[in-house]
Amino acid sequence: MEKNMEREDIINNLEIALKDIKNKADLANLKATYLGKNGVVTKLSLKMKELPNEEKREYGKFLNEIKEEVTKKFSDLEKRLEEQALEEKLNSEKIDITLPARRSLKGSIHPMTRIVEELEDLFVSMGYDVVSGPEIDTDLNSFTKLNLPVGHPARDSQDTFYLDKDYLLRPHTSPAQVRTMEANVNKEPLRIVCPGKVYRRDDDATHSHQFMQFEGLVVGEDISLADLKGTLELFAKKLLGEKTKVRFRPSYFPFTEPSCEVDVTCFKCSGKGCNLCKDTGWIEVLGAGVVHPNVLRMSGYDPEKYTGFAFGPGIDRFAMFKYGITDIRQIYTNDIRFLEQFDRKDVD
Ligand code: DAH
Repeated sequence: MEKNMEREDIINNLEIALKDIKNKADLANLKATYLGKNGVVTKLSLKMKELPNEEKREYGKFLNEIKEEVTKKFSDLEKRLEEQALEEKLNSEKIDITLPARRSLKGSIHPMTRIVEELEDLFVSMGYDVVSGPEIDTDLNSFTKLNLPVGHPARDSQDTFYLDKDYLLRPHTSPAQVRTMEANVNKEPLRIVCPGKVYRRDDDATHSHQFMQFEGLVVGEDISLADLKGTLELFAKKLLGEKTKVRFRPSYFPFTEPSCEVDVTCFKCSGKGCNLCKDTGWIEVLGAGVVHPNVLRMSGYDPEKYTGFAFGPGIDRFAMFKYGITDIRQIYTNDIRFLEQFDRKDVD
C-alpha cells in the first residue's frame, strides 16, 4: 500500500513537472532530478540496503517498475519535443504559394535593331552577304581610296572626328566598299551590305554625332545603273510599302559616276504634301551611283572588266519615319520611357 502510494506520488509529481518542460535543456535537468546520481529514483534504490532479505525481491520489482515508468515518460516527452522542433522547422521553411509572383520585365527590340534586321533580311533574300567594318578606320579607306584625295573639298562636308592624322571615327560606311573589294580582289559577283554606326560633328533634332548607315555594294561584269534602279525600287517598296514611288535625281559623290540621290514618296502624306516632306510629296533617303573606275582600280579591281553600283541610306531616318520619332537623339539616349513604346506587340 505504502509503496503504491509512493509510486503514485512520484509519477504524479513527474507528470506535473513534465507539463512545464518546453525544451531539451529543461528536460535534461528534470531527468537528472529523477534518474541522476542524487535523483528521486536513485534515492529509492538506496533503501534496498536497509530492507530485510525477504522484502528485497519485491522492493526490487517495485524499483524496476518505477524506473521503467519514469524512463518511458522522459523518452516520450523527448520524442514529442523532437517532433515539435521538426514541425517548427518545416513550418518556417514553408513557401506561401498564394503570394503573387514578381513580374519579370520584358525587354523590347530597339527600333534601330529592328530596321537593321529588316534590311538585312531583305538583302540576304536577294543574295547579298552582310559584312561589318571597324568604327575606327583609316583616312585612306574612308576618303583617299573612295576617290577623295587629301585636300578634296568634298572631305569637308563630312565633318569628321580625327583621332590623329591617319585614323578617324568613320564618317560613313563607304569604307566597307574598299575593305570588301581588297579582301576579295577580282572575285565576282560581289554583293554586300554593311550596316553600322558612323560619326560626324553634328547635333540637333535631326542630326546626331552618332547615327547609322547601311552601305550596299555590287560589283561584277555588266552591272549597270539599271540594276541599281531596280534594286533600290524593290528596297523602297519592301521597306516602306508597295505603293511607295521612287525618284532618282542626279547628284554628285566622288566615289560614284554617275551619282544620284533617291527620294521616296512621303510616308506621312503618300505624296500629297505635308509638313514632313515640306509640301514636296518626296523625302530624300539615300545617295547612290555607279562605282567610279578610280575606286575599283584603287582596290584592285580592273575597271575595264568590272563595273558596280553602290548605295548608302542613313537608317535612322527610316526608323524615325516608320515609328514617328521626332528627335533623332532619342534613338541613342536609351531612355526606358522611350524604348518601352516599342513593346513586344510589334515583334513576331
Ligand atoms: N557615303 C555617303 C554619305 O555618307 C552616302 C553614299 C552616297 C554612299 C553614294 C554610297 C553612294 O555608296 O554610292 O553621304
